[in-house]
Amino acid sequence: MEVKRAKITAVGHYLPEYRMTNAELETMMDTNDEWIRTRTGIQERRILKDEDKATAFMGCEAAKEALQRADVSADEIDLIILATVTPDYFFPATACLVQNMLGAKKAFAFDLSAACSGFLYALSTGSMYIEAGRAKKVLIIGTDKMSSILDYTDRTTSILFGDGAGAVVLEESTDETGIIDQIHYTEGDVNCALYQHAGGSLNPATQETLDSRQHYLTQDGRAVFKKATMGMADVSLEIMEKNGLTPDDVAWLVPHQANLRIIEATAKRMGLSSEKVMINIQKYGNTTAGTIPLCLYDWQDRLNYGDNLILSAFGGGFTWGSIYLKWGIK
Ligand code: ACO
Repeated sequence: MEVKRAKITAVGHYLPEYRMTNAELETMMDTNDEWIRTRTGIQERRILKDEDKATAFMGCEAAKEALQRADVSADEIDLIILATVTPDYFFPATACLVQNMLGAKKAFAFDLSAACSGFLYALSTGSMYIEAGRAKKVLIIGTDKMSSILDYTDRTTSILFGDGAGAVVLEESTDETGIIDQIHYTEGDVNCALYQHAGGSLNPATQETLDSRQHYLTQDGRAVFKKATMGMADVSLEIMEKNGLTPDDVAWLVPHQANLRIIEATAKRMGLSSEKVMINIQKYGNTTAGTIPLCLYDWQDRLNYGDNLILSAFGGGFTWGSIYLKWGIK
């Protein structure tokens, strides 16, 4: 059987207009701009303020833009995979809401939960459908309204995240460009280093879970930082070595944007200079499933056909991984 290859044919995005600066956070909690900038690299993040809009809305806007750029209509889409940890509802899946909003009548749609690695896991999964010949046009969406699970009295977590979404259209490649390799890992985190404790079937919502603020994201920042730095750097180097790529061969590292220091450690391990690293964390913070497509969106005009890109992420779960692709948009 002929093995097909999947390639990204367009990128779309959505960012809420409201900019929450470090200065604004200073008025809400005991923190300061200097600490946030030097420890994380973040200067501001976008927050979705409209009460009637959430993760599906942002994902849908990003998807619409991607479809328009790909010159693909919604009813041509076979499959929608949406990565998020902040779904509009527990069920139905946010992907189903987006399928309806888009009018993508032919598509089947599901959510994928892999926290900050969600977009990479979804991109790998979607590419398999194309490689197997089971789908021709696939939408991959990474979208998170992180502000909906942030405790703005907790300075160790709330300063890190923002809201936003990115989407790509995947189609069959007719040349050597497209997704070439992928490596993914999972290490179930029994120590609860990065969790939203309540709201699921183990700890459903009660007055007590609300009073003890268990419906917000919590983390052991130092533990996550160590794991993330090691995981992202190791897997990025692994995918380079597996594919015989030297630092000169790699045009861009497209890293998940959690912390500038994690990104710099990854680039160093890969032997890449800072000019080859996409960094927009200063503008958006950590948008979880949105970070990687938002980087691709911001850099798309600087990407050349045939460029070797390494996409890398680490997130809750723990989950992490890398994708190696040749950029296929002319
Ligand atoms: N403002 C001012 N001071 C603060 C703040 C803040 N917002 N937050 C913590 N501090 C204080 C701490 O209380 C501590 O004070 P102490 O020494 O008196 O106890 C001091 O700053 C140092 O705290 P650390 O936790 O050691 O700071 P660190 O350098 O590790 O940075 C951070 C913390 C930014 C959270 C870092 O650990 C990190 O980025 N971890 C990764 C977490 C992450 O990215 N999670 C997202 C999901 S996973 C992913 O996307 C990879």
